[in-house]
Amino acid sequence: MLNGKHIILGITGGIAAYKSALLVRLLIKRGAEVQVVMTPSAKEFITPVTLSALTGKPVVSEFFTANTGEWHSHVDLGLWADAMVIAPATACTIGKMANGVADNMLVTTYLSAKAPVFVAPAMDLDMMAHPSTTRNLELLRSYGNHIIEPAAGELASHLVGRGRMEEPENIVRVLEDFFTVSSRLAGKKVMITAGPTYERIDPVRFIGNFSTGKMGYALADAAARAGADVTVVSGPVSVRPEESSVKVVAVESARQMADSCTEIFPQADIAIMCAAVADYAPAVAYDRKLKRESSESMTLELHRNPDIAAMLGKIKRDDQMLVGFALETDSEEFNARRKMESKNLDMIVLNSLAVPGAGFATDTNAVSVFFADGRPTADIPLMSKADVARNIISLL
Ligand code: C5P
Repeated sequence: MLNGKHIILGITGGIAAYKSALLVRLLIKRGAEVQVVMTPSAKEFITPVTLSALTGKPVVSEFFTANTGEWHSHVDLGLWADAMVIAPATACTIGKMANGVADNMLVTTYLSAKAPVFVAPAMDLDMMAHPSTTRNLELLRSYGNHIIEPAAGELASHLVGRGRMEEPENIVRVLEDFFTVSSRLAGKKVMITAGPTYERIDPVRFIGNFSTGKMGYALADAAARAGADVTVVSGPVSVRPEESSVKVVAVESARQMADSCTEIFPQADIAIMCAAVADYAPAVAYDRKLKRESSESMTLELHRNPDIAAMLGKIKRDDQMLVGFALETDSEEFNARRKMESKNLDMIVLNSLAVPGAGFATDTNAVSVFFADGRPTADIPLMSKADVARNIISLL
């Protein structure tokens, strides 16, 4: 999976820098092209000569070559890379990355990098445990960087604890896994419905539900990260996709969602029906605001909405895959499987209402996935919706 990949290896000034030579060799052996960028202090721990000999490329460390004045473009480097790995990453560099302190070539390159970034911290146990390090790593995670957690073991100080840089073999494995996942849906078109639908009563009132769209948008991001061309048909929500390649078709009502889906589905390879579609809509949407009447009650006549998943199930071709969601309060598995059959779905994701923290309007979820082809059930325990989404995508 690393063949032909362009990898920037950022090396900072920690004892674990001696392992960088091995990391470079492993990456090169797997066919990657490696460009080393070192901080000035990293050179105290491993020489640029060793690294340039292994990579076949001059090591970049300064903004300019001293004698010629040649400028090293961190912007070009950032665009060249398919991935940037910072190993070892010291507390100092992690702090600079988290706060944009671009005072060396490594941090400027990091700030310019468009590619995914992997950070393998290495430091003494007390530095690792300091709230400042915890906060900075949390910030890096919030920027979408991948933290390759340090292992526990004997440290250079002879103290034993958490802070050892992950072994080069494992860092390579993390990269391989990442690139395997990121090509899984390459060239596939995926349509995802997300969020609630609003069914108008009059110009200011509607019938809706508490769906936030978080699960649908997490699926959209995960599918895009797996290389798919993704369109979300979305009811009214405040979430946005994190991945800029995800297209959003904004709709309001079930009927509008049905129209958009019918138009998009024939071109899709996979459709995931994650929206909480209102089952009924007012028979008439008044074009003037309804006035409060003197009577104590009022009656709204509701008409059934189209079942979009079932509609698509009827026109689904053999080369297409249709995935639905279910939220059941009783006989969960029985009802979910029945739904899968009646709507002609290939796969159904059952939200576990029994698990606290799962379902509507939370950041976490726990689900079971059933397959029409008889594959065994996959249980995905409570985790962030982003991780649940990644797992669901890998089951497709
Ligand atoms: O029948 P039920 O609403 O429980 O089915 C849930 C599944 O069907 C979900 O995948 C949901 O997105 C989809 N659905 C739909 N259109 C509807 C109702 C549900 O696409 N009108």
